[in-house]
Amino acid sequence: MAEKMVRLLCILSALGFLIHHQAVVAEEDSALSLGRSIYEHGIGRDGREVNATLHGNLILKGTAMACINCHGENGRGGRESFIRAADIRWANLSKPYASRNMGGAELPYDQESFAKGVRAGISASGRKLDPAMPRFDLADDEILSLIEYLSRIDLTSHSDGSRFSILGLLPQPGSNVLADALASELKNCPAREDGAPIAAVNIVYFDSPSDAILKLEKQLAKNPNALVLAPFLVGWEGQYAEAVRRLNPQTVLPFSLLDAPVGSNWKFYFPGLQAQILALIKLIKQEGYSYLRIQYDSGNELSTQLNEFSRKIASLHQIKVLNGVSPTKKTQQERIRSAWLWLKPVVMEKIENVSELDELMLIPALYFPSRNLETGAQLLNRRIAYPYKPTDNSGIWRVPASIWGKAACEFLLRVGEKSINPQDLPEVLRLEEGFFLYKQPTLDLSSEQVFVYKSLTPDVQ
Ligand code: HEC
Repeated sequence: MAEKMVRLLCILSALGFLIHHQAVVAEEDSALSLGRSIYEHGIGRDGREVNATLHGNLILKGTAMACINCHGENGRGGRESFIRAADIRWANLSKPYASRNMGGAELPYDQESFAKGVRAGISASGRKLDPAMPRFDLADDEILSLIEYLSRIDLTSHSDGSRFSILGLLPQPGSNVLADALASELKNCPAREDGAPIAAVNIVYFDSPSDAILKLEKQLAKNPNALVLAPFLVGWEGQYAEAVRRLNPQTVLPFSLLDAPVGSNWKFYFPGLQAQILALIKLIKQEGYSYLRIQYDSGNELSTQLNEFSRKIASLHQIKVLNGVSPTKKTQQERIRSAWLWLKPVVMEKIENVSELDELMLIPALYFPSRNLETGAQLLNRRIAYPYKPTDNSGIWRVPASIWGKAACEFLLRVGEKSINPQDLPEVLRLEEGFFLYKQPTLDLSSEQVFVYKSLTPDVQ
């Protein structure tokens, strides 16, 4: 009786496969559909049933041993009863140091080691896989087609709207040092000791912003639920925001200098320049200053826009912006109670020409980029605003790619561990003690996240 049921189920599922197969065959190349067929139905080249050896001697065929039964519809594996099958999406298997299973980091798979894993049950690191993972009699082309399928499983698995994939958006390797560093962070998220799974990110490389938008549109057409993680938006935030207005994917931890554009769907972003300026202005207000002078570069669009923004914010906080007042004409009172806001790079030689070194300088870290300035600028009275805590707990300086990478990996871990839906992201992403990001902060809240330092030696204000 039970056997009959199983048989019936097999036949039904085979029929289901045929119908489904007809529907999708047109849009998939043959490698992809062969891979899918093996993965979902245990049916290999020319309709043959794949043979699998389980626990050394039990030979099973076809559907009963299809990968999907254990590794799940989306390839992410799972923990059904006592079997714990790995996340075998190719992005995850081929990722250096990914934690695919309990026990921490393992070597990445390539084509050869994948074949060995599937045929002989030996992992890329040379570990004997649990006997619950069957050994399959797959031919080389079948192996290749499986890899093809596993590379795209996030995008090809039946989209019932509830699953989602995570896309990275980065310039072609070699075109931007910062972006390369970020890519390397994203690909090498450290495994956690308890082996909690890390969600895989599918990085899409672009040549130009318009190429990026085209590719993003293509991916989103296939998977409307895709979430965009740490896209590299420096310099084309506006273009991205424009594209996003139509497509509206959630954009987590955008790598950007600016705050979220109005109406955008950005999540967990580090305070941008606007939030940093707001933080600095709030600070001098608190300290009793009442005048501000702004150093900006009228030939630079960003600098000019920030100048306008700063004027608005200053007036909202009853700080008067002094225009081109020459130092000698200022009253003593104005001298004492005025600060400079720098919206262009601070260059020591230029400052030395200025007589008011005693005036407070307010500098978003972007404009105070080099620590070499430290010697010359020691005497300056200044406040530097950072979008993140600039040193780690042992006082080591962080670079942007590492902090963005850390946050992105934390996000991948949270998502991987709890299989979170894009709709249920947590309210706060905690990075370390006293350092966290809100899901969707207002500019005001974001300004509270800014770290203002007096000098480059950590002495948090
Ligand atoms: C009966 C359940 C089952 C089936 C069916 C199955 N697997 Fe597995 N698979 C597992 C388990 C359990 C593990 C974890 C083994 C371990 O880590 O020791 C695993 C591990 C793997 C690994 C190694 C991952 C790593 O982290 O090293 C690969 C690759 C893999 N499976 C591919 C496949 C493919 C491809 C198919 C289909 C052709 C398949 N599996 C079918 C249960 C299964």
